[in-house]
Amino acid sequence: MQSVIIYWSKTRNTEKVAFFIKDGLEQAGVEVSLKKMEESGDIDFYDYDLICFGFPSHQWHPPESVVVFLKNKFSEYRKHGYVKLGAPKVGKYALIFCTYSGPHTGINEAVPAGKYVGQFFEHLGFTVLEEWYILSEFHGSEERSTKGRMGDIRGKPNEEDLRKVKQDVINLLERLNINPSLRYK
Ligand SMILES: Cc1cc2nc3c(=O)[nH]c(=O)nc-3n(C[C@H](O)[C@H](O)[C@H](O)COP(=O)(O)O)c2cc1C
Repeated sequence: MQSVIIYWSKTRNTEKVAFFIKDGLEQAGVEVSLKKMEESGDIDFYDYDLICFGFPSHQWHPPESVVVFLKNKFSEYRKHGYVKLGAPKVGKYALIFCTYSGPHTGINEAVPAGKYVGQFFEHLGFTVLEEWYILSEFHGSEERSTKGRMGDIRGKPNEEDLRKVKQDVINLLERLNINPSLRYK
């Protein structure tokens, strides 16, 4: 299985998660490359069996640059006939991961962003295995990191959170190996 992690990160929370996803994939025996989104312009999604795509929530959306990146990719694929009615499965997978701070309404500030990004991959025939939402410090705003809906989130994702991410990757891959028909979900 060939996999790639593509991520966009401004204050490094998403980047930390990406590194631990990489560790998990490697431990599961999966070949993986790690790329910043800004360096992924010429990547062909279809070259990979598994794409892990990560970004933070900005006003409960993906950041604008992430939206632009995905829309550009999508219109290229549409031009070449890859976007088909019914979105038939191509036997490839996507894992979406989104970091967020949830100062106002908690995880609901991240779910719309994760669902939105997942749709790009589903429209291309990928099976979105899961969307992960990882609670993370709001760097540059102590108030949002201590007094919001999620309480004191300074230092997150911490070692324990990141170890969990790694283990979740290993578990996910195990489930996939046991039940490859997930791809027809
Ligand atoms: C401009 C901006 C807008 C943000 N908006 C939200 C938001 O609406 N909801 C939320 O939960 N977190 C919000 N955050 C917090 C980030 O989603 C969170 O800290 C994230 O982990 C940052 O990821 P990064 O370190 O990879 O850039 C915002 C952060 C910034 C800088």
